[in-house]
Amino acid sequence: MTTETLLELEHVTKAFKRRGTSEQVLAVDQVSLTVRAGESVALVGESGSGKSTLARIALGLELPDAGSVVLTGHELSTLRGKQLRSVRRRMQPIFQDAGASFNPRRSVRAAMFQGLRHLGSDDERQARAVDLLDRVGLRPGESFLHRLPHELSGGQRQRLAIARAIASDPVLIVADEPLSGADVSVRGQVMNLLVDLQKERGIAYLMITHDISLARSFADRVAVMHHGSVVEQGSTDDVLSEPKDDYTRLLVRAVPELNGPMPSRAYLT
Ligand SMILES: Nc1ncnc2c1ncn2[C@@H]1O[C@H](COP(=O)(O)OP(=O)(O)OP(=O)(O)O)[C@@H](O)[C@H]1O
Ligand SMILES: [Mg+2]
Repeated sequence: MTTETLLELEHVTKAFKRRGTSEQVLAVDQVSLTVRAGESVALVGESGSGKSTLARIALGLELPDAGSVVLTGHELSTLRGKQLRSVRRRMQPIFQDAGASFNPRRSVRAAMFQGLRHLGSDDERQARAVDLLDRVGLRPGESFLHRLPHELSGGQRQRLAIARAIASDPVLIVADEPLSGADVSVRGQVMNLLVDLQKERGIAYLMITHDISLARSFADRVAVMHHGSVVEQGSTDDVLSEPKDDYTRLLVRAVPELNGPMPSRAYLT
């Protein structure tokens, strides 16, 4: 059986000019990475290693200088207009700071409607918005629908971001540190929600995280980034239990609980 490839990055490279100088920063250097339907891939690595840049490229928010990005079988750079929008709709982002990804003057309802533009009428959109908010554990009453993003708690905003992301029936969610702003109890709930959604809808994840323990409990595969390159990738077990690369070894050694017996996925629930 072959599993559909949703995202295929090949030799992707991106450099930025350092502000005020002629120096270039090679943020992403010849990265190849694949995400298949229904799987979760964790992208780990230290600050500045190029993870967010790679995520933006994967989402089609930024173009690489070289290399190819194939989303659901379509080479991104060849797509325009309606076709580009429809391919991009299937890849939804969840960012660390959910607050900043909402328009501060638009209500919960308006934010949800934006993700539901493909539906035929406002009545349909309303019914679906209520369903989705309910699904992520928000109480979708009238007063809630009319709240503004700053009137929600951090955990509620993160759930709203997830509801909005799943509104357009994505096949892949690219989540860039989606938990790092949240406190411990919210982190557990949000992770469980993401895992449940994956089971229900077969959504694939590219999950960017500093948290190696989280990667271990959540991901099928792990890719390790260091100075713009993926230095190692493979099944979570192989990479985190028997790292071959020196940098991966360093990362793993810094996490005390990884040096004991392996926790199961069940530890999330
Ligand atoms: N728009 C930009 N202009 C200039 N340099 C940039 C830009 N975006 C990223 N960089 C640089 O590219 C490198 C990689 O940044 P990136 O944000 O991808 O790292 P990261 O792995 O996501 O880090 P963190 O874990 O801190 O979020 C850094 O050196 C950063 O300063
Ligand atoms: Mg980042």
